Amino acid sequence: MEAAGKLINGVAFARQLRSEIRQEAENLHAVHGILPTLAVVMVGNDPASAVYVRNKIRATEQAGMRSVSHHLPAITSEAELLDLIATLNADETVHGILVQLPLPAQIDRDAVLDAISPAKDVDGFHIVNAGLLAVGRHDGFIPCTPMGCMMLLHSVLPELAGLHAVVVGCSNIVGRPMARLLQQAGCTVTVTHLQTRDVAAETRRADIVVVAAGHPGLVRGDWIKPGAVVIDVGINRAETPQGARIVGDVAFDEVAPHAAAITPVPGGVGPMTIACLLQNTLRAAQGLAG
Ligand code: GUN
Repeated sequence: MEAAGKLINGVAFARQLRSEIRQEAENLHAVHGILPTLAVVMVGNDPASAVYVRNKIRATEQAGMRSVSHHLPAITSEAELLDLIATLNADETVHGILVQLPLPAQIDRDAVLDAISPAKDVDGFHIVNAGLLAVGRHDGFIPCTPMGCMMLLHSVLPELAGLHAVVVGCSNIVGRPMARLLQQAGCTVTVTHLQTRDVAAETRRADIVVVAAGHPGLVRGDWIKPGAVVIDVGINRAETPQGARIVGDVAFDEVAPHAAAITPVPGGVGPMTIACLLQNTLRAAQGLAG
């Protein structure tokens, strides 16, 4: 069956954004002598995190920025990690700090995220940046994945006001900030979570469905209202007869025929997350430029 859904090309969108960011970064360097620099910290050897970190470092350098990488062993103590963050906070040549999640169990994630200077918190996870977003102020850093989702939504829906949006999943990284951004764009927002009795009943009423549940193929074809726009944030490794593949949280082949527009996995939200990280890093460096 031919998919009636229109594919939202995150690769092309992110490529354009990254090229604009590169130009601005080069300009900042040429005019102000500031080389935007991102410090990436990873603790332990989670294989998925290693791939994400490698991609972030490569993208940073391709955007004409500098990256500084700190890979700490899995046995690192919280105090040792906090020491490194204090050093990076004090280092004027470092503009953005990213601590890749998840962290090993002996480390309190919130203590670490809140130790990052809010002005260098390019992930937007510090409590100050989360609070600014919560009260509708966009002068802090906005988490990269929800920001990328909003850009993709705006590319197919110039006006979001008045639409009903359902966000499936309520993590601090995606679901919660996503809901706030949609609400501030004028949507009526429902957030579903593990205690929601009937998630499908909620998504069926939605003009926009954003899925960030970490559950491969969760959203089925009959969960989607005809003409809805579907954004799939999921990145799951799945074994298929063709071998290991990356799949989203949406059963793409079932949902695409109903949707007016849909992001593929891979090639949808993922590239936007990295492009938005570069944008936040550039902004952090521009802040220092005054
Ligand atoms: N782990 C999964 N997603 C993210 C992200 O956006 N930022 C960080 N730091 N860790 C993550």
